[in-house]
Amino acid sequence: MSIKRFTAQGFRCLGNIELEPDPDYTLIHGANASGKTSLLEAFAYLGRGKSFRGAPTTNLIQHGEHEFVLFGQVEAAGRLVSVGVRNSRGGLEVRVDGDSSGGAAALAAALPLQVIDPDVHNLVSGGPDERRRFLDWLAFHVEPGYLALWRQFRRALKQRNAALKGGGNRGALSAWDREFCELGGRVDTARQAVLAAALETLREHGSALLGADIDFRYASGWSRDRSLKEALEDHFERDCVLGTTQVGPHRADLRLIYDERQARRLVSRGQQKLLASAMILAATEIAQTALERPLLLLLDDPAAELDRVSLGRLMDRVAGLGSQVIATSLERDESLFPAAPRVFHVEQGELRAAVQG
Ligand SMILES: Nc1ncnc2c1ncn2[C@@H]1O[C@H](COP(=O)(O)OP(=O)(O)O)[C@@H](O)[C@H]1O
Ligand SMILES: [Mg+2]
Repeated sequence: MSIKRFTAQGFRCLGNIELEPDPDYTLIHGANASGKTSLLEAFAYLGRGKSFRGAPTTNLIQHGEHEFVLFGQVEAAGRLVSVGVRNSRGGLEVRVDGDSSGGAAALAAALPLQVIDPDVHNLVSGGPDERRRFLDWLAFHVEPGYLALWRQFRRALKQRNAALKGGGNRGALSAWDREFCELGGRVDTARQAVLAAALETLREHGSALLGADIDFRYASGWSRDRSLKEALEDHFERDCVLGTTQVGPHRADLRLIYDERQARRLVSRGQQKLLASAMILAATEIAQTALERPLLLLLDDPAAELDRVSLGRLMDRVAGLGSQVIATSLERDESLFPAAPRVFHVEQGELRAAVQG
């Protein structure tokens, strides 16, 4: 897979952008606030239907405009698929090959991508949400039925929480509990299986980038020695008081183990970035194998926080994946790439191809 053509209108500070990324490497360089992150964010939005930095859509629409439109042509299995997104204050419109019924999941299937940006360390140092999303992203690409299952579970959780808020009595709740436990158990099993299959690749990228052994453990979101049903019973009183469900797969975590202890408290900011990047690269490799196609890998200012040696190691690993890479940097630094990249310069949101040389 590679994205052959990309256009953007009305997105943050970007002018009307038209770009043909290289199937291997594209480098975008420009000064601070020239629009590098905005450009990568536009690519990511086309593959996710949301900002990778959690920015609300209204902040992404260019000041003074009422909508943004993104479009791409993606080559997959020898076929060109057109992918489009229009986002106005009225909401998101998605079109994949002319079909507007698929929503963000259709984007993710058509243009699977991963991002390493200067906030990537949050995957290691932040709360469990991001690590759950990480695991769910893997499951989505590796396990065909996972998205439907996960949605069913979310619905059951919402219904149970609504019943709790409505002053839940055990009788009324037990119907929701059965569904919650059944679906929750399946989400748990699927995630454990996905992690088990990913473990070697995760460890391998982790130790290569960090130069130390790293391990990963799944914490289900309830006590290991209880069934989910028993855990729900244990927490019933507290759930009623709080009006939300305290245990279950929505509270799961992916624990990162370094030297027998939790990595997030041990490693420096630069090491957090390396570990988080290793996780992203491992996930990219696993998804590429499952989907039998290269992914789009967006690297926003990969040099940030990293010394020369670590950056070199990261970029070597990136090169080994065979993904379609689009990276940004302050300077025109082609030594970031082993092969000659396609180079663009961005200035005040306008893009132009850099003279080769
Ligand atoms: N909705 C918007 N409309 C217009 N400009 C915006 C919008 N959101 C952000 N910007 C501006 O875009 C500029 C470029 O930001 P960014 O892409 O992060 O630059 P870089 O990554 O090159 O440092 C910033 O000056 C920012 O204020
Ligand atoms: Mg930036």
